Amino acid sequence: MGFRKGVFSFFVALLVVAVLSVASFAKPIVIKFSHVVAVDTPKGAAANYFAKIVKERTNGRVIVKVYPNAMLYGDRAAVEALQMGAIQMACPATAKFTGWLPELQLFDLPFLFKDYKHLHAVMDGPVGKKILNLFRRKGMLGLAYWDNGFKVLSNNKHPIVLPKDCKGLKFRIMSSKVLEAQFKALGASPQVLPFSEVYSALEQGVVDGCENPWSNLYTKKFYEVAPYTTETYHGYLGYVLITNAQFWDGLPKDLQKILAGCVKDATAYERKMAQKLTKKQRALVIKNPKVKFVELTPAQREIWRKKLVKIYPDFYKAIGKKLIDEAIAEGKGL
Ligand code: LMR
Repeated sequence: MGFRKGVFSFFVALLVVAVLSVASFAKPIVIKFSHVVAVDTPKGAAANYFAKIVKERTNGRVIVKVYPNAMLYGDRAAVEALQMGAIQMACPATAKFTGWLPELQLFDLPFLFKDYKHLHAVMDGPVGKKILNLFRRKGMLGLAYWDNGFKVLSNNKHPIVLPKDCKGLKFRIMSSKVLEAQFKALGASPQVLPFSEVYSALEQGVVDGCENPWSNLYTKKFYEVAPYTTETYHGYLGYVLITNAQFWDGLPKDLQKILAGCVKDATAYERKMAQKLTKKQRALVIKNPKVKFVELTPAQREIWRKKLVKIYPDFYKAIGKKLIDEAIAEGKGL
């Protein structure tokens, strides 16, 4: 009896060792994370941070491979690839979702957010949650909002101080109807181009100007080919971190929990990096001798605001008037 029991225990132990060694030699789950910006931007830095903490916290069971600078896909192709399961994560600007989820254009509306406090109240409150919930309809999950910053205008023709100075200029835009309407309201011609083509389009005169947060402007050196730089802060550029819903739902529950924790911490890190890099890279652009910097007075900014908020009613249908009103209301009393 004792002998039989001993043999049985021996085989059970053997089985446990075998299972454990198969598990430890099991191939890691790979998350391909594609984005279009440089590594020293808030998104670039946070994507790498996310990869680092995922590897540490899952003991290498999940590996995140980050592909920056559109080396794998531009944003549109990245969303399509993610839906098909060719990549597992991406973080496109909200403007890039226009064709899939037009509600995301809320974040493109000029002068909607008074400041970061207002912006984060919208993102982290009921409006932001409602918008993230829309992603599942398209086979995706909206995991978090990541920041870049408020946008400035660059061009290579002349200084821009007032809206009328944009008249006749060609501006590169992301694929958002709101951004199209914004430049049309200024009497300018908007042209949709992928981010990776902006520098050469400015250099070759395909467009005269563009709008970017400081970090993108600095890291892609757009000031070299569009030196007139006006700190309008007329709109915001931020992101939604997305994953493929089927991929996420199929993950073992323990990994899902660890990854959700990593998303939370990487998001906090990303928002801090956005503040830090914007400050640093803004100063570096302004002090560059090539740059002709224009800072607006509050009265001049008010002229821009009055001009551009007129486009809101054109988007009551696509975005939803209720959603716009709710977002505005979040800023009251802040
Ligand atoms: C752009 O196309 O201008 C942005 O989406 C780039 C980015 O990801 O910040």
